[in-house]
Amino acid sequence: MRTFPNPSFTGDSADISRLVAEVRCGEVPPYTPSPSRANRALADLLTRDPGRLDPAAPDSVFATGPRPETGQPVPFLPRERLLTRDEQRTAAECFARVLAGGELTSGPAVTEFEDALADFLGVPHVVGTGSGTDALVVALEAVGVGHGDEVIMPANSFAATENAVWARGATPVLVDVDPDRHTLDPALVEAAVGPRTRAILPVHLYGRLADVPALVQVARRHGLRVVEDACQAIGVTGVGKYTDAAVLSFNPYKNFGLTGKAGAVVTRDDELAARARRFSYHGFDPKRKNVKEGGYGLNARMDNSTAAVGLGLLPRLTLRNYRRAFLARRYLDGCAELAANGSVLLPAFEPDHAWHLFGVRVTAGRAARDSIRAHMRSTGRVETDIYYPVLTHRQQTPLHRELFGQVVLPRTEHLHETVLHLPLHNDLSLAEQDRVIEALHAAVRATVR
Ligand SMILES: Cc1ncc(COP(=O)(O)O)c(C=O)c1O
Repeated sequence: MRTFPNPSFTGDSADISRLVAEVRCGEVPPYTPSPSRANRALADLLTRDPGRLDPAAPDSVFATGPRPETGQPVPFLPRERLLTRDEQRTAAECFARVLAGGELTSGPAVTEFEDALADFLGVPHVVGTGSGTDALVVALEAVGVGHGDEVIMPANSFAATENAVWARGATPVLVDVDPDRHTLDPALVEAAVGPRTRAILPVHLYGRLADVPALVQVARRHGLRVVEDACQAIGVTGVGKYTDAAVLSFNPYKNFGLTGKAGAVVTRDDELAARARRFSYHGFDPKRKNVKEGGYGLNARMDNSTAAVGLGLLPRLTLRNYRRAFLARRYLDGCAELAANGSVLLPAFEPDHAWHLFGVRVTAGRAARDSIRAHMRSTGRVETDIYYPVLTHRQQTPLHRELFGQVVLPRTEHLHETVLHLPLHNDLSLAEQDRVIEALHAAVRATVR
């Protein structure tokens, strides 16, 4: 088995792309991480011990372990493995320190975490919140979205995106997506701008950035604000750098999952950051205890205990994203034959992508997609999933029927009917991944042709 000696490794993007290429023993486009403290931590690890990048090394940075037997299920996202054992130890130590001191809600770790994350992301301000949902509500308030406004967003997202708009007394306007990116199509966004439009809320679905430069152009032309829902895209270059604000989630299922609900607003704008801080904690002046500066606000600040865990785990973030990029690349290689014969469509490999979810599109349509999932589950014993099972405009509530009953989004609907998601998590072992690839091949053979 190969090892990967690289004594001159410095951790810059050229070095990392070389390493990725070596690990794959093949051609890979350059990996372009943002220059940050967390990347330096990865660089340190790899400089110290580059052999750990070898998937076959006993202390590999990739999850190792025996190949699961065919009868043994490969779960989609096993809860007990959201943090690796090593990460669980770090998290427990961080939490125990806070617990002993009793500063469980507010405390110094919040600011320290915010500063460290700002450094990681290369943006001036991070405001830690109680969840990604809180961060969306706070960011929308901070950019001035309020009662009677409209916010343009996609229909394929977690409910938090639309709920944040409702929470501001505003109305979501659903716009179709670019079929390759699965994210807002800027031309259609522009066509949907009306007199009440206040903001654009793109979602970086599955960890791939929406076309932010084009959306910012549209916003400039019409005097709109842009808030990025980057809950699935932490670590991707440029998040929060070109828009009014970006929103992150650290819930345990995310790339940078912590030990409970948490999120953040990220912004370059001093005033917007101050407003977000105020609104996320009862409208209080952050420097004067229990003295209001804003009319009202929420109890939506990040807990000190979660922030302490975040600080402990932040140096692992780049490694986690790196693992995901590696596994995504491996899925693409493993499924290339299915793409070549036209059975599936695969996402293009982009190294600067959080690879929060790995989607495969079944070209034969919804019935074939559902049969493949069923075959993978029953015969292959591999769990897959669909994100998200119900599109926003197809939710069956009186509100949704009344407002979106007539809405048709052909591309979003087509993607939704044909996509399935394969297991891709921090602790997915290469042996498990091989089982997934084999199960997909067998299911396609059995159902599509
Ligand atoms: C796209 C998207 N937006 C918003 C959220 C909400 O984040 P949280 O669960 O931290 O409230 C999530 C995560 O669940 C998400 O995936």
